[in-house]
Amino acid sequence: MRKKIIAGNWKMNKTAGEGEALANAVKRELSAETKVDVVLCPAFTAISAVSQAVSGSQIAVGAQNMHWEADGAYTGEISAAMLRDLYCRYVILGHSERRQYFGETDESVNKKTHAALAAGLKPIVCVGETLEEREADQIESVITTQINGGLAGLTSAQFKNVIIAYEPVWAIGTGKTATPEQAQDVHAMIRGLLAKLSDKPTADSVRIQYGGSMKPGNAAELLSKPDIDGGLIGGAALDAQSFIEIVKAAADA
Ligand code: PGA
Repeated sequence: MRKKIIAGNWKMNKTAGEGEALANAVKRELSAETKVDVVLCPAFTAISAVSQAVSGSQIAVGAQNMHWEADGAYTGEISAAMLRDLYCRYVILGHSERRQYFGETDESVNKKTHAALAAGLKPIVCVGETLEEREADQIESVITTQINGGLAGLTSAQFKNVIIAYEPVWAIGTGKTATPEQAQDVHAMIRGLLAKLSDKPTADSVRIQYGGSMKPGNAAELLSKPDIDGGLIGGAALDAQSFIEIVKAAADA
């Protein structure tokens, strides 16, 4: 049995004060939630405030990116140790927006994944096809390249600390969701790839989140699928009530 994991990806939204208020609102309802892993991923500037707000609760904090080097002359970058210092336990890596706008590649995702694990952070590694790729029947080849590239060189023990997020790019922020069946097909395919990279028991232990316009109205159905182990929530995570409802759907799934 894989424990469901719901993470809020706040993207470039919320100042420290706004983030603290949102975290407090989530904490009021979910402070003692133990059936589902709940993670809030604010912008770097709000991490400290959010960590303080949720301290003493079951809610964890994650970042949205990091650099792979431990320290040094990398102006503007943030290391895994810096995130650990602010009590982060997770980090989102290879989000499609980072791939599209900031030159993220499978190679950089792989370096970051190794660095995150070495520092004790759990990486949430994002993969997903564009609409063009889906229409050209390239889902399997695109996802295979992303998984094999992004997760190259991990041991089975390391795989157990990795979370995958399948986020079809055409469903992110568009209101279009993959149908539960479409998502389940890709999740099962991803689990097959993980088994090839490690072994079946390890692949069966890895949690695979769905992301892309997940909201209270569609969460329960998506989360009822056998290989959908949680959600990476963008827009709906900016509203405490919507996020809480998605977590409750996961707890009931
Ligand atoms: P969305 O974003 O829920 O707003 O579609 C998901 C994501 O990009 O992680």
